[in-house]
Amino acid sequence: MEVQEAGDILEESVADLELPMETNNLPEEMSLAEEAMEVVINNVNCVFNMGTSGDIMLLFMAHSWHKETCLASAQALQDSEVISKLLLVKTAEFACVDRPHVERGISESRILYTERRNTEISERRLGEPPVENGLIPYLGCALQFGANPLEFLRARQKKYGHIFTCKIAGKYVHFLTDPFSYHSVIRQGKHFDWKKFHFSTSVKAFGHGSMDPNDGNTTENLHETFVKTLQGDSLSNLIEAMMENLQHAMLQSNALKVNSQDWFTDGLYAFCYRVMFEAGYLTLFGKELNSPKEKNFARQEAQRALILNALENFKEFDKIFPALVAGLPIHVFKNAYSARENLAKGLLHENLRKRDNVSDLISLRMFLNDTLSTFDDMGKAKTHLALLWASQANTLPATFWSLFYLIRSPEAMKAATEEVHNVLEKACHKISLNSTFISLNREQLDNMPILGSIIKEAMRLSSASLNIRVAREDFTLHLDNNDAYNIRKDDIVALYPQLMHLDPEIYNDPFMFKYDRYLNSNGTEKTTFYCNGRKLKYYYMPFGSGITKCPGRLFAVHEIKQFLTLLLSYFEMELVDKNVSCPSLDQSRAGLGILQPANDIEFKYKFKFVI
Ligand code: HEM
Repeated sequence: MEVQEAGDILEESVADLELPMETNNLPEEMSLAEEAMEVVINNVNCVFNMGTSGDIMLLFMAHSWHKETCLASAQALQDSEVISKLLLVKTAEFACVDRPHVERGISESRILYTERRNTEISERRLGEPPVENGLIPYLGCALQFGANPLEFLRARQKKYGHIFTCKIAGKYVHFLTDPFSYHSVIRQGKHFDWKKFHFSTSVKAFGHGSMDPNDGNTTENLHETFVKTLQGDSLSNLIEAMMENLQHAMLQSNALKVNSQDWFTDGLYAFCYRVMFEAGYLTLFGKELNSPKEKNFARQEAQRALILNALENFKEFDKIFPALVAGLPIHVFKNAYSARENLAKGLLHENLRKRDNVSDLISLRMFLNDTLSTFDDMGKAKTHLALLWASQANTLPATFWSLFYLIRSPEAMKAATEEVHNVLEKACHKISLNSTFISLNREQLDNMPILGSIIKEAMRLSSASLNIRVAREDFTLHLDNNDAYNIRKDDIVALYPQLMHLDPEIYNDPFMFKYDRYLNSNGTEKTTFYCNGRKLKYYYMPFGSGITKCPGRLFAVHEIKQFLTLLLSYFEMELVDKNVSCPSLDQSRAGLGILQPANDIEFKYKFKFVI
């Protein structure tokens, strides 16, 4: 057994990351361990993770979580009740955390480490990818990876080539970086289990029972449910409902009606978030019965207030989502916990039954929850909450990036405005606030390649998803260059498509927004991309890949197209500061999908047409 003081380990890791050690404010009598812990609270975040095998780990992620997450983690350290609970499930095999003195907060904290025994691969065996174990026992490379995944992986790619293994928080992850070899992971279904990881992540984050039929709570085939209700005819219904709900959310606001000739200033992200959340929520979960035709203004406003309340709860919950995925128990975050419970209460079947125009997805899931599962009422509601999150968490920032890049680029604005104008003209729509809502069907929206290219390009620049598969058994992975590597059962194989999205060999000037990057010279969608002169099968993967590819991807692109179309139709828009620099990507969600902007941008808008 290897035992190390927390202080030594943290000092090492902090030095490695070159973080400023804000020791000035520390009480003098604090020991080295206390100092190190204090640095963690000020500069680095820590997360307790209870893995499936009952291990506890203290994971320090440099600058990668929100301040709130960091503070809540620090609180957890000081909260003897939480620590005791964690200790109850510890196994000596991995790590344990001494109970700190409550009165002194985190003093005398000490971390004991033992190395993983069963699947230890710190020694590279013949035929396995090169391994990087990192400097810190158990954590391995977690700190450096968490601080900047793209830079971390690029540096290893340069050093090791197409595949390498990193120890991250006790797990061995094989990163495959060659896009020509992606198919060997995406297509090798029989060697990989994708369900275990997805199902357990959902349980951890949303608090419902396992949706894995093997665990006996339900016999629903979720994949089938998603395909049936998010694609085909159901997709057309979603698009139709979204078109109406978007206009409802955009145009019915009190202030806008009164001052329709004025410029309004708002945060661009705040605006996208509000409009898309409201419209998306109503589209999936329907409206209160009879309300669409309800003339009573006060009643409509009451409905809106409820949705805005759900939006605030969603924000609070979503903020700590990365920490939940990492394994921190939700009880540590009191506000996020009550936000999650409130959201779920709104999605209880008894409440959903009072709503009209509930989507096929939610109607079918309600039926299957009631007939095929043993979940209790709150458990069922939390399965719907998982879908609320899936439908919004990536769409909201993707909408922001699409609109931000569009407004900032005069050529994109011109081309997109013309495309929208042409489509509306063909559909014989005249824009005025007195006329009925604009309605464009799926086919008409599909016929808008410029908006399509803008959205794709915005997502290429902001997506950072991690595609994960777990090896079912020991097997040999064959790469495109005919190299073969042995993979051990339970190891993780990961693709990080951001490496490909920002590869200058594939995309010229990869950090630049080019609105027509995904257009051929004749204006049709471009689907041919090359790397070193060879045509790529995989060149764009913000929606994941293979069996786990996002089932809502078609709806997602359509709803963002609808949002942009309506904005361009109804409003003049400008950035308040035309030379504003592009917000940086908030890396705290790297691995989870579309990254959020680190800060909001002010924009102004006014109606194009006076009533
Ligand atoms: C820009 C918007 C979106 C992006 C970038 C996105 C991306 C993703 C990604 C990367 C995954 C995981 C794939 C994997 O693990 O390999 C996923 C899963 C999923 N997405 Fe999306 N998504 C978006 C919008 C939506 C929407 C609008 C819906 C539904 C209305 C949706 C429903 C789902 C569901 C249900 C899953 C889980 C699928 C499963 O586990 O079988 N997504 N999405």
